[in-house]
Amino acid sequence: MSDFWNQKYAREDYFYGEQPNDFLRSQAFRLPPAARILVIGDGEGRNGVWLAQQGFDVSTVDYSAVACQKARALAARRGVMLDSHCADLLTWDWPVAAFDAVVSIFLHFEPSDRQQIHQRIAHSLRPQGLLIVELFHPNQLNYRSGGPKAVEMLVTADDLRADWPQLDWLLLVEGETRLTEGVGHEGTGWVTHGVARRSA
Ligand SMILES: C[S@@+](CC[C@H](N)C(=O)[O-])C[C@H]1O[C@@H](n2cnc3c(N)ncnc32)[C@H](O)[C@@H]1O
Repeated sequence: MSDFWNQKYAREDYFYGEQPNDFLRSQAFRLPPAARILVIGDGEGRNGVWLAQQGFDVSTVDYSAVACQKARALAARRGVMLDSHCADLLTWDWPVAAFDAVVSIFLHFEPSDRQQIHQRIAHSLRPQGLLIVELFHPNQLNYRSGGPKAVEMLVTADDLRADWPQLDWLLLVEGETRLTEGVGHEGTGWVTHGVARRSA
């Protein structure tokens, strides 16, 4: 599958643009100053690099070598440090209780892999750590603005509640949104997004 992503990213410009995801930007006020943040499936780095520019200590993981190289180039261009790991999240050695926040934006899996990754996220958070997540909802199949075409890879708010019984949701919403994220996500779409906290 990383070949699939390498091909998508094999272009001069950034497939999802160079600006951060709108939901992440809107929720970043919740992050404590200088927080240690893990951004998973960060692609070409638009979200991780933007968080680093806000003064956070950012680690990213993506298994596309092309994405990692473009993320590192974007960080260098913006003059920020990015601890970029080029690795498969299904086999990566996840740090435990290590992060003040984990960010997962449009990182879709088959259900059994999704549940495994979502448990890894929960265990990688410090007590009181925050999760910021945005994923496409099954209603996205009615739109042409991007995302997987297989319904089992799309998620509802109930799926996320079931995946993370140990997290408390501060916000969890399903609904229509306007996407302007490069050529990859363009137009009206339907997402599930939220912010959750690990209890102490
Ligand atoms: C839809 S893109 C989103 C990229 C980025 N989050 C953004 O919003 O710009 C999904 C990303 O997840 C990465 N990815 C998918 N499965 C992965 C896995 N098992 N391990 C690491 N990265 C993965 C892909 O390489 C791709 O960059």
